[in-house]
Amino acid sequence: MNLLVLGSGGRESALAWKLSRSPLAEHLYCMPGNPGTASFATNVNCSLSDFESIAQHISNLSVDMLVVGPENPLVEGITDFLHERMPSLMVIGPGRDGARLEGSKDFAKAFMTRYSIPTAAYRTFESSQLEDANAFMEQLKPPFVLKADGLAAGKGVIISDSIEEARQELASMFEGRFGDAGSKVVIEEYLSGIELSVFVLTDSKDYLMLPNAKDYKRIGEGDTGPNTGGMGSVSPVPFADDLFMSKVEERIVKPTVHGIAAEGMDYCGFIFIGLMNCAGDPYVIEYNVRMGDPECESVVRRIDSDLLEHLQAAAKGTLSSEKIVVSPKSSVTVMAVSGGYPGSYGKGFPISGLDTDSGEDDIVLFHAGTAVSGAEVVTSGGRVLAVTSLADSLNEARIASYRRLSVISFEGIFYRNDIGSDLLDF
Ligand code: AMP
Ligand code: GLY
Repeated sequence: MNLLVLGSGGRESALAWKLSRSPLAEHLYCMPGNPGTASFATNVNCSLSDFESIAQHISNLSVDMLVVGPENPLVEGITDFLHERMPSLMVIGPGRDGARLEGSKDFAKAFMTRYSIPTAAYRTFESSQLEDANAFMEQLKPPFVLKADGLAAGKGVIISDSIEEARQELASMFEGRFGDAGSKVVIEEYLSGIELSVFVLTDSKDYLMLPNAKDYKRIGEGDTGPNTGGMGSVSPVPFADDLFMSKVEERIVKPTVHGIAAEGMDYCGFIFIGLMNCAGDPYVIEYNVRMGDPECESVVRRIDSDLLEHLQAAAKGTLSSEKIVVSPKSSVTVMAVSGGYPGSYGKGFPISGLDTDSGEDDIVLFHAGTAVSGAEVVTSGGRVLAVTSLADSLNEARIASYRRLSVISFEGIFYRNDIGSDLLDF
C-alpha cells in the first residue's frame, strides 16, 4: 500500500515512523515532512491548503491511503474534497461535518449535551449578546473559562480569576482578537482536577481504544508560564486505572461514537478527547479530530500491533474485528524548543548531536521544527525535536530521554526537566 502522511511536526513524524514499520507499507510519502522523515520516507513539498495540488500528487504517486495529521485541512474539508474526486482513496481524518467537533466549540458542547456526555455546564453567546454574557458570568464562580468558538491555533481558551478581567477578555474576543473564531464565545464552568488525553480510532460505527497519555502544556517547570503546543508527554497515565478508563469508555467514548453514527457523520479517523479527572469522574474538556502533539509521539511507541492494519480496517469499516496490542512499558517524550518559544524565537540555528548513537534502541528522536540548510540540519520552528523513550518504568523512560537530550544542542535550546515527575508516586 502507498501512503501519504500530511504534515511536518513531531506528531506526523511519529505517525509516519510507526507506519513505515508496517509490512503492509510499500511507498511512504510525507507532505511536506521534515529532515527526520526524509530518513524513512520520501518528502513531497506542497501547501496543505492547496487541495487541488494535493489531489494531483496523490494521483501521480498512486497513493492508496492519506493520513491527515493536523486539524486545519480537516476543518477546511479536505476529506470531502478528496472523497468526491477519488472515491477509492482511503482517508484517515473526518469530513467537514465531523471536524466541527474540533472546529466549533459550540457545536461540540451541543453535541455532548445531545448525547448526555459529561462536560462543564456552559452557554454560548454572540457579540450582540455582550450584556447577557456578562450577566451569565455573574452567576458563575471564578475562575472564568472563555472559549473562542472557532480554531485559534490553540490560543482561544482564556481562564481568568477575576470577573473584571474576564469581562475585558470577552469584550476583546468579540472585538476580533481571534478574528472570526471569536465571533461566538462559549463560557463554561471551571473544572478542577487532573487532565489526560484519550485517543480513539473510529470508523463511525466501531472504535479501538489507543493508549492514553498526559501532555505538559505550560512552558515552565511545575506547570508555570504561558501555554505552549505541548512540552512533553507520558503514556500510560498512572492515575488512569482500569476503573477510571471503564468510566471513560462507557460514559464518553461509546456515546461519542454513537452520536457520530446517529448524526451520519463521515468519520474515519482519530478522536482525541481532552478529559479532566474530577475526583475519579471523567469530564470532556474538548474534542480534537486528530492525534495530539506531543501525545502521539508517546502513544505510537506503545502500540505493538500494526497501526496501518488498524487504519486500513477503519477505512474499510471492519474495525470491529481489530485487536490492538498495547505495550505494558512506559514512554516519555520531551520536547526541545527554541529559546523564546511560545513567544518570538530565532530560527536557523544548527543542531548538533542528532546522529550520536546513544547505544539504546528504545530511544527515538522525532523531528518537529527542523529544516536543512546547506549540509546542516537547523531549527525552523518553536518546537524543534521530540525525544521519546520506551522503558519498563516511567522513571527509566524519563532518564533515557533526558540522557539522549543532554547530547543535543542548538543555540537557545530549552526543555522542561520535570516531564512525568509529578506521576512518579502514583
Ligand atoms: P484547549 O486549548 O481547548 O486545549 O484548552 C486549554 C486548556 O484550558 C486545557 O488544556 C485546560 O487545561 C484548560 N481548560 C479548558 N476548559 C476548562 C475548564 N472548563 N475547566 C478548567 N480548565 C479548562
Ligand atoms: N498536545 C495538545 C494538542 O495536540 O492539542
